[in-house]
Amino acid sequence: MNFLTIALAKGRLADQAIELLELAGYNCAAAKTETRRLILEDQANGLRFIMAKPADVPTYVEYGAADVGVVGKDTLLEEGRSLYEVLNLGFGGCRICVCGRPELMGRLDSIPNKRVATKYPRIAREYFEIKKRESVEIIKLNGSVELAPLIGLAEVIVDIVESGRTLRENGLVVLETIAEISARMVVNRVSMKMKSQRINPLIQAVRQQLENKGTRTKEVIE
Ligand code: PRP
Repeated sequence: MNFLTIALAKGRLADQAIELLELAGYNCAAAKTETRRLILEDQANGLRFIMAKPADVPTYVEYGAADVGVVGKDTLLEEGRSLYEVLNLGFGGCRICVCGRPELMGRLDSIPNKRVATKYPRIAREYFEIKKRESVEIIKLNGSVELAPLIGLAEVIVDIVESGRTLRENGLVVLETIAEISARMVVNRVSMKMKSQRINPLIQAVRQQLENKGTRTKEVIE
């Protein structure tokens, strides 16, 4: 069977992606089953869902192992994969920011050779070294990044701020905003042409739902 394979980011975004696909008329019962299986097939509708780690969704889509993916813009910026970003899905909204102790407010630029702890080394490097033309030391962490300035591993962090609660409860503040983030639909470059009869209606149906909900969408097909 010629499946359309959709890679979903396990965790926060998957549930909202499924809800949106269902509103768009796609039966996602397979993807909603309570299971640890990582490939969920809906034979009747020719859909196959793969449940991937968020950072791996762009990889599956770039290589064509998945035709379509739903993933956060933060992950797309960090992974820098070659794929089409076709829709801003609106949910999963947050900001990627430079954060640190409140004493650094307004004087970030005066600290030379800063250490920057982050799960997003590429985004951090591009921001400081390319955009701000500033030399920094990037320290890659895998989570609980807010710890770093508290225990002296780094002066600042580059991280996601959603509600702001993690920062608040750890006495940290946003110093600069790098980018606004939300979930995006991405498509493999070859699938976009070879499976256009299935992918174009999917994009259209999802876009229609977003317009019904009043979400601002963006089509970025180069
Ligand atoms: C993310 C992010 C922040 C937190 C922000 O971490 O890295 O720590 O959420 O959310 P808030 O502004 O609503 O508090 P996540 O929960 O993914 O865990 P991690 O730190 O282990 O990566």
